[in-house]
Amino acid sequence: MADKKIIAVVGATGTQGGGLCRAILADPNGGFAVRAITRDPNKDQGKTLASQGAQVVTANLDDVESLKKAFSGAYGVYGVTNFWEHFSAEKEKAQAKNIADAAKAAGVKHVIWSTLEDTRKLMDPSDKRMPFLQEKYRVPHFDAKAEADAYFSGLPATYLVTSFYWDNLYMFGLAPKKGDDGVYSWTFPMGNAKLTGMAAEDIGKAAYGIFKAGQEYIGKRVGITGENLTVNEMGEKLSKGLGIGPVKYNAVDADVYRGFGFQGADEMGNMFQVYRDFEKQVVAARSADVARKLNPQLQTFDQWLAKNKSRIPTQASAAQK
Ligand SMILES: NC(=O)c1ccc[n+]([C@@H]2O[C@H](COP(=O)([O-])OP(=O)(O)OC[C@H]3O[C@@H](n4cnc5c(N)ncnc54)[C@H](OP(=O)(O)O)[C@@H]3O)[C@@H](O)[C@H]2O)c1
Repeated sequence: MADKKIIAVVGATGTQGGGLCRAILADPNGGFAVRAITRDPNKDQGKTLASQGAQVVTANLDDVESLKKAFSGAYGVYGVTNFWEHFSAEKEKAQAKNIADAAKAAGVKHVIWSTLEDTRKLMDPSDKRMPFLQEKYRVPHFDAKAEADAYFSGLPATYLVTSFYWDNLYMFGLAPKKGDDGVYSWTFPMGNAKLTGMAAEDIGKAAYGIFKAGQEYIGKRVGITGENLTVNEMGEKLSKGLGIGPVKYNAVDADVYRGFGFQGADEMGNMFQVYRDFEKQVVAARSADVARKLNPQLQTFDQWLAKNKSRIPTQASAAQK
């Protein structure tokens, strides 16, 4: 480990960071070592990473001093914040600032900041198509990450623009649900726009590709996607892949979706509306070719589905939503 470049991974017990840890650990001769950061090293994911050769350390994104210690002596840092734990754009920005400040203090040679675009730049402030949320954001978890990009200026940083995880179908309960009539259906305010999506595991693999490339991506914004598909195209693939018959797509208006009442419905309504109304810009900001160059194992939706179909619930009825 001593002669290897240490990558301190925020979110190591989670989806993006976990994928990066697994990518590094799967390549023992790659010259990199994992320092996995968690608030609780006793949780299963931390123990698994330790058993696979990662150094597991404790730090909290709300405590910059703990991050400085966790980053000390590291070559690189992978930075990600988890909006969905607290739903606060301001908190997400404060945590991102702590990552950047600690990376500066530790003098690391390469930081990857997992970011998204500022959706406010896509429409005029007077545009009434969607509400502002948390006072000044259109899609808070996008806009806050984009605002936080500024904290990383002056650092040797790569800005990694990620895509919608297909894994949301089982992780966020977004898969089609079986109705009482036996027909599967799902509801999005996406019209016929293409959704930039990818296997969540491929984000970490792309990040590993960026670290391995050294100087090439420092100072760059790198947008990645696996495959861009309409809701109907995904539905057809799910229908075939899961053997569940036709999947009916309820293409509702974004206002209807925002009104569904679950926590984050307004946020997700705005997000899907951005994907729909600004399809061209969202698609242009991400490239499957770039993602495949960084990670030659990049999965298509069908490949991801073949691997993950057992995780997608197919029996739940719509009444259980
Ligand atoms: N779902 C999507 O389709 C999608 C697409 C693009 C971007 N994103 C973005 O991805 C982000 C979430 O990343 P993820 O999916 O990898 O998250 P995740 O799987 O839910 O895991 C969250 C990770 O963050 C760590 N964490 C959270 N709060 C922390 C704190 N205060 N201090 C230290 N570590 C903390 C957790 O570590 P411990 O609990 O072990 O401390 C855990 O490892 C969100 O902000 C979201 O906007 C999501």
